Amino acid sequence: MADAGPMPLSFEVDGRPVEVADDGTSLLTVLREQLGHRSLKDGCSPQGQCGCCTVLVDGQPRVACVTPARRVRDRSITTLEGLPTESAQRWAEAFCATGASQCGFCTPGIVVRLHALRAKGTAVDDLGAVEQALLAHLCRCTGWRTILDAWQADSAPASRDLDAASRRATIEGRSPQRVAPDVALGLGGFADDTAPADALVAVPDGRGGWAVAETLEEARANAGKIQGRRTTTPAAPPLDLPPGDWDATLRTSWVEPAYLELDASWCAPDGEPATPLANGGAFGGKTDSVAAAAARELARQHGRTVRVVLAREDSVRLGPKRPPIAGGVRADGTGVIRVVHTPGIAEAIHRVAPKIQIEEVEVSGPPTSVNVRAAGWAEALILLAGTSDRPVEIASPEGATARARVVLGPEPLVEVQVRCGQPLDEVVLRSYCIGASHMALGWVSNEALAVDPDGEVHDLTIRSFGVLRAVDTPPIEITLEPDDGPPVNGSDAVFAAVAAATWIAQGRPTDWPTGQRIRG
Ligand code: FES
Repeated sequence: MADAGPMPLSFEVDGRPVEVADDGTSLLTVLREQLGHRSLKDGCSPQGQCGCCTVLVDGQPRVACVTPARRVRDRSITTLEGLPTESAQRWAEAFCATGASQCGFCTPGIVVRLHALRAKGTAVDDLGAVEQALLAHLCRCTGWRTILDAWQADSAPASRDLDAASRRATIEGRSPQRVAPDVALGLGGFADDTAPADALVAVPDGRGGWAVAETLEEARANAGKIQGRRTTTPAAPPLDLPPGDWDATLRTSWVEPAYLELDASWCAPDGEPATPLANGGAFGGKTDSVAAAAARELARQHGRTVRVVLAREDSVRLGPKRPPIAGGVRADGTGVIRVVHTPGIAEAIHRVAPKIQIEEVEVSGPPTSVNVRAAGWAEALILLAGTSDRPVEIASPEGATARARVVLGPEPLVEVQVRCGQPLDEVVLRSYCIGASHMALGWVSNEALAVDPDGEVHDLTIRSFGVLRAVDTPPIEITLEPDDGPPVNGSDAVFAAVAAATWIAQGRPTDWPTGQRIRG
């Protein structure tokens, strides 16, 4: 008699009974790949570190990518799609009204977690409990503080011009961004969500090619997927300071853009590939993504629609990093910046600091890009700000200005004033400025990628990049200064100003990350 195989697994998803093969698959794979629940996002599977695939198992939040499906046999799963409609809508409006969702990739998991927290009876003013709950999540865009605002939002949102809000978001994100309540429900239009279900799936094979199969699981198995890991290799600035008598010196490390939505695209034969920048370009981190070109070429080769999706470790290996620098400057604006060779970086620095000499250096390491947020010019202006004791004021190449004050210690605070033309939408502009402040705090204090002398990247897990957690992020107060001029990007100037003010408040240590705490 033929072996009937293991008994199928039965459980409930959003109130409906389902039955799937008991083959050791993760709950994320079952829900997203087999049952088509696209509200669950995959930001790091199988690392279990980003929280984007959070669901409720018998009412308790669980990260689906590290939950074997077999563990939920006979249990009840609730995804974001299964929350009561009124409740989901209320969260969506609260997130939109407070600017708590930008790209919206991390938000579905956070909404599920906050829903569970509220169902437990957590008080609206218990922000400590919310910060603790957010420890299971990562958000690269918002800087957390607006998520705390969304938790507390209780009134119906004021009417807003969401087209104007989307225009401001697009200026700040430097790629198309849509502002609407449904973005918070995971409907930002991400390429990996819109791919046809019958598309072939391609993943990097680790040898410079692609493993192609009928399913994501199969493709990853064929690629011999390498698990993300931490390392004992120290993260350190790779360049030596230029010799000289300097008033300020700075050495930065390799920094991972660490966007939550992984690179993905899909393409039909002879079609146009879906953009990996559907609702956000990860502040420049994804501008050079390999996904779209690969989808086009693989669709041509196979004569079928092909979906290309990178795993977290692929994105760390293949994606561009912020170019490390080592520089010294004098108070008169002269100096030398050494920078890892990157097309366009010398021009970016020269634009804001014409008296600084630039030396590009060939270093073994991951790819770098001038397109990541404020690359080169931020470092130059930060160094120059470090030569004086005046309050930090940064003027961006596009004409935005930002002033920042950073207080560290038990009562930390970040205060920012920004002027960047007509706001178009104050909620969105404030949200991007808070997000930029959060990114700057992390860049100075925590963020680095371990790269060995042969250029191999050793940190492959998303937690190892040092993104500042909600519990470590201080209150961030943004003042938008009146300006009737044409709108220009303001958050990049804020990013540079907060980084400079943080560094100065920490005593201007030469090497970043400084390792100093922001809060506490
Ligand atoms: Fe959280 Fe973009 S809104 S990662």
